[in-house]
Amino acid sequence: MGFVIKPLEPQLVDSVVRLEELCFSVPFKKQDILSYLENPLWSFLVATHENELLGYISYYVNFDECQICNVAVFPECRGLGLGSALVEEMISQAKKRGATKFFLEVRESNLSAIKLYEKCGFSRDGVSKNHYSKPLENALLMSLILD
Ligand SMILES: CC(C)(COP(=O)(O)OP(=O)(O)OC[C@H]1O[C@@H](n2cnc3c(N)ncnc32)[C@H](O)[C@@H]1OP(=O)(O)O)[C@@H](O)C(=O)NCCC(=O)NCCS
Repeated sequence: MGFVIKPLEPQLVDSVVRLEELCFSVPFKKQDILSYLENPLWSFLVATHENELLGYISYYVNFDECQICNVAVFPECRGLGLGSALVEEMISQAKKRGATKFFLEVRESNLSAIKLYEKCGFSRDGVSKNHYSKPLENALLMSLILD
């Protein structure tokens, strides 16, 4: 399936909210996304096909550090390379803004996301105990440090 990756525009915010609600027990609300969109540190990239949302990634860049917040792909579109394309494009865009250090947290049980991040070059740094709620779970801390 052909797709393009581009910045999130207001007309796709409702679709991002639907994807968040489908994937996460504590999803971003529409108002959160609208306010992050006005924050110059934050970025949202979407993968679309004929203007339909397939997946998205959110992150923020502060000086040389980039924090990845969420990446999600609709279930019927998984396994096609969209997740890795979104992470790779995020790295490329954040590098242009000066980021050289990338950080993220992921649920310890989320093996598909952990494998995705490892495929994109991230390493395991440690564990944050009881980091998540609904359900309570440790986070695996991962980073990618570029030369
Ligand atoms: C994690 C997620 C974004 C991956 O998206 P995707 O489009 O399926 O990812 P890709 O097709 O680009 O796969 C990239 C790599 O991830 C790993 N991966 C993806 N799905 C996997 C699965 N079901 N089992 C094991 N590894 C998997 C593989 O290493 C894969 O590389 P490969 O195809 O060369 O083996 C998707 O599963 C998702 O939306 N999950 C729910 C939301 C979520 O948990 N996000 C992470 C929050 S931190």
